[in-house]
Amino acid sequence: MKGIILAGGEGTRLWPVTKATSKQLLAVWDKPMIFYPLSTLLLAGVRDILVVTGPGQAEAFRSLLGDGSAFGVSIAYASQPRPEGIAQALLIGRDFLSGEGCALVLGDNLFHGDRLRERLRRAVRRPAGATVFAHPVRDPQRYGVLAFDGDGAPLDIIEKPASPPSNLAVTGFYLYDGTAPDRAAELRPSARGELEITDLNRSYLEDGELAVETLGRGCAWLDTGTPASLLQAAQFVQAIEERQGLKVGCPEETAFQLGLIDADGLAERARAYGSSEYGLYLAHLAREEGSVPDPAGGLPVGGESRMSLP
Ligand code: TTP
Repeated sequence: MKGIILAGGEGTRLWPVTKATSKQLLAVWDKPMIFYPLSTLLLAGVRDILVVTGPGQAEAFRSLLGDGSAFGVSIAYASQPRPEGIAQALLIGRDFLSGEGCALVLGDNLFHGDRLRERLRRAVRRPAGATVFAHPVRDPQRYGVLAFDGDGAPLDIIEKPASPPSNLAVTGFYLYDGTAPDRAAELRPSARGELEITDLNRSYLEDGELAVETLGRGCAWLDTGTPASLLQAAQFVQAIEERQGLKVGCPEETAFQLGLIDADGLAERARAYGSSEYGLYLAHLAREEGSVPDPAGGLPVGGESRMSLP
């Protein structure tokens, strides 16, 4: 399965911050935003990734992520000339996908939690159709919301409903089989001029080929599109990292734990980050082969075995 990170868009809700830079390069606490969805794709088992950026932005992403070898994967880049909808990613990625299924993740979505890897991998094993990941929210009116029939099967997805049929919002991580580009090509732009991801998901739903994975309260799903949500995401990451001494959304660590890079590769990446706290964390992991660094910089906590992945 291939992967696409959609990292274009104008980020208008963050203007003027995103006037001259991509939202997905902004910091969420101690690392660029795109590290979070990249880590999610690695956890899902994706090894071949296309990063879709806004026009003229690919070089900045390339200087951060390179060809992917630092994470033991392959990363290619494509640009979206105008933000004409999330579903357009499937058209831009058509050649890259060459008929394969894919995981599509929005570049401003952060997932963290219990047994995430297991949940993602279970969904990836489904041979056909599409899977969306749902998460309970307090304000479903702001999202694409799922409606279910009496047996709990998905019945509809309604964009920003005035009277939400459930509190389950569709998150920014989607799995599609190889028919997605053809389905996306059939879509017509919505009233706001975009190829809507909800319409693509509906096309699977109408064919009885949409599965829903619900991420419960053991999982956090955050997006970072407004000043408040960006700050909240940063505070969330800070709180967990300072409490546990473990990083959230650290793709080098995930790659190391999955065996995609070895300790030498990790140490090389650590050197590239110099004496930043992030660099020191990676250096420690490389030295101790996965033991937990002490955030205070003292002796490592544990060290007898590799940490378990979320
Ligand atoms: P949005 O948050 O819907 O759009 P945006 O990021 O441009 O922000 P704003 O609403 O403030 O103008 O996009 C969700 C994610 O999808 C985000 O990572 C940007 C990306 N995206 C694209 O790359 N291309 C697109 O055409 C759209 C609509 C979104």
